[in-house]
Amino acid sequence: MSKRVIKVNDRLHEVEAAPETPLLWVLRDALGLKGTKFGCGIGVCGACTVHIDGEAVRACVMPLGALTSESVTTIEGLAGTRPGPESMHPVQEAWLAERVPQCGFCQPGMIMAASALLSRDPDPDDRTIDEQITNVCRCGTYPRIRRAIRRATG
Ligand code: FES
Repeated sequence: MSKRVIKVNDRLHEVEAAPETPLLWVLRDALGLKGTKFGCGIGVCGACTVHIDGEAVRACVMPLGALTSESVTTIEGLAGTRPGPESMHPVQEAWLAERVPQCGFCQPGMIMAASALLSRDPDPDDRTIDEQITNVCRCGTYPRIRRAIRRATG
């Protein structure tokens, strides 16, 4: 176990955990950020997707000790710090407008993956969406995910 400070959702947090502890468990168990989900635990499903310096990363396979000075953003921090619906991220607004979720379990990870994609490609076509977003949705919401991403491009 060792103590270290990490930046999550624009706030500094001191956490105590072994360096090999996956970031997912630090977020969920130490910081109480339950929006980041555990699905497969082996980097495949994407339920645990967060941003590290704006890039989509699977937190279940990111050891705490591998973080350097990066800034982590979870679904709870995506919209910023203002309360209320006016503070939603455009991808979250599009997700609501298209009624994307079914069971909803994978959707925080999907939104994090989609927002990271749009930050590097503001107008992706369906093929790019399918290639770049490899998260798994067992409810099969992929058509609505594509529509929501297109809506979010404005
Ligand atoms: Fe991390 Fe599945 S829980 S990719």
